[in-house]
Amino acid sequence: MSAAPLLEVRDASVRFGGVHALRGAELSVSTGSLCGLIGPNGSGKSTLVNVISRLTKLTGGALLMDGDEIDSLSADRARAAGIARTFQTVRLLPSMDVLANVMLGGATHFAQRSVAVNWLWPPRRANANRTARQAALVALERVGMAAHAHARPQALPYGQQRRVEIARALASRPRLLLLDEPTAGMSHHEREEVGDLLMELRREGLTQVLVEHDLAMIHRVCDHAHALNFGRVIASGSTQEVAADPGVREAYLGHGSSGERAQDSERAQESGPPESPAKVSQ
Ligand SMILES: Nc1ncnc2c1ncn2[C@@H]1O[C@H](COP(=O)(O)OP(=O)(O)OP(=O)(O)O)[C@@H](O)[C@H]1O
Ligand SMILES: [Mg+2]
Repeated sequence: MSAAPLLEVRDASVRFGGVHALRGAELSVSTGSLCGLIGPNGSGKSTLVNVISRLTKLTGGALLMDGDEIDSLSADRARAAGIARTFQTVRLLPSMDVLANVMLGGATHFAQRSVAVNWLWPPRRANANRTARQAALVALERVGMAAHAHARPQALPYGQQRRVEIARALASRPRLLLLDEPTAGMSHHEREEVGDLLMELRREGLTQVLVEHDLAMIHRVCDHAHALNFGRVIASGSTQEVAADPGVREAYLGHGSSGERAQDSERAQESGPPESPAKVSQ
């Protein structure tokens, strides 16, 4: 982890009423790295992705990209600044074909600073559309879905819908890609292919954060990892170090220290027990 951090999360807290989803989470993601984010169900992984992509506001702490605070940015501004994400559950618009869905990823990016001008000046609007279309076609090609550009998303198998989501994120030509369980529901073969794609993107220099439950996948594709539990980062380092961390193993296997669990009992009661343990495989 020699490169400077692209992203730093400092003492991040998020409360939803009585639920403390993040409580002082700290992590950094080096420029050009593929960083794994693991943790049991309900540990705060999606909340952290939502915070970084500016869909959820921090209640405390700070976010820095290239050393600049970004916690006041709107989600649109964050996209324009180069932060793209996929969602834990597929969010494609059924009324549009695949290409139009992917163009949405680039459209706000390419029109971001000039929506009014684009609207008032049709040639400029047409130019922004052409650029977004071109970026969408490149992104679809990149994820192996160019042949399905004119299909309806719901006509595609689930694994391919997830690839389209990745294409939509890539269409904005991001500097930081956040992937929230992008291989959930995929076959082993599809997972391997997505893993290969993420490693290729990393070789091309794209910084990524991968939320993933399968530690074998994390080992295969990531440079380093962070583990969350009850809204805190409990381990950071190489994927081997994090997987071997006693606190991480306890969190996954459900034998957490009684002191920590007692402090968190109020929240645990509010949010319920973890739905399923992740696969701990080494
Ligand atoms: N909008 C919300 N309103 C209230 N509570 C929320 C909200 N979003 C998340 N939470 C709660 O915050 C905690 C963290 O949730 P989060 O979705 O970030 O966990 P996660 O690590 O992504 O879990 P999973 O592995 O199941 O996807 C959970 O207790 C969850 O119920
Ligand atoms: Mg989640």
